[in-house]
Amino acid sequence: MPETIAPAGLTRRNFLWLGWSALVGFLTSGAAAAARFFFPNVIYEPSQKFNAGPAQDYPMGVSTKWLNEQRVWIIRTEKGFYTVWARCTHLGCTPNWFADQNRFRCPCHGSNFSSDGDVIAGPAPKPLYRCAVEIASTGDLIIDKAVIEGRSGFRDKTPFFANFKATV
Ligand code: FES
Repeated sequence: MPETIAPAGLTRRNFLWLGWSALVGFLTSGAAAAARFFFPNVIYEPSQKFNAGPAQDYPMGVSTKWLNEQRVWIIRTEKGFYTVWARCTHLGCTPNWFADQNRFRCPCHGSNFSSDGDVIAGPAPKPLYRCAVEIASTGDLIIDKAVIEGRSGFRDKTPFFANFKATV
């Protein structure tokens, strides 16, 4: 009769196999968990850069053409272009452009911004951000929302302002 330990019917040999199996299972699951760290969770988002079409086609002033699709306004001045990211610096709502008042107004808590993006009124603590803009060799406006700037003195220079002279 083989030597047994409790519970009744479990042999010493089977008990050792059970122990070794548990140890191997434990080490394997630990190694698998460690290997998982080599494959981090990555969220692939669409590029923040987009082609806004020919610069020549934009009229002077604030264009709302890309507001719904890209959440930016494109502003053309006598000297060139800049873009304003349509995200209120208070809590992130999307302001609206009121051409008759020459200002952006946020519907959430009433912040007002000039066409430069500066705060005129309301709880917003900072000016609206500008996005990087350049004019490609094709004459198209290329806007990069991943590069933003809100500080005056910086936002008026490259890459946040693109010089442009209209050709007739
Ligand atoms: S989110 Fe615009 S004023 Fe509050």
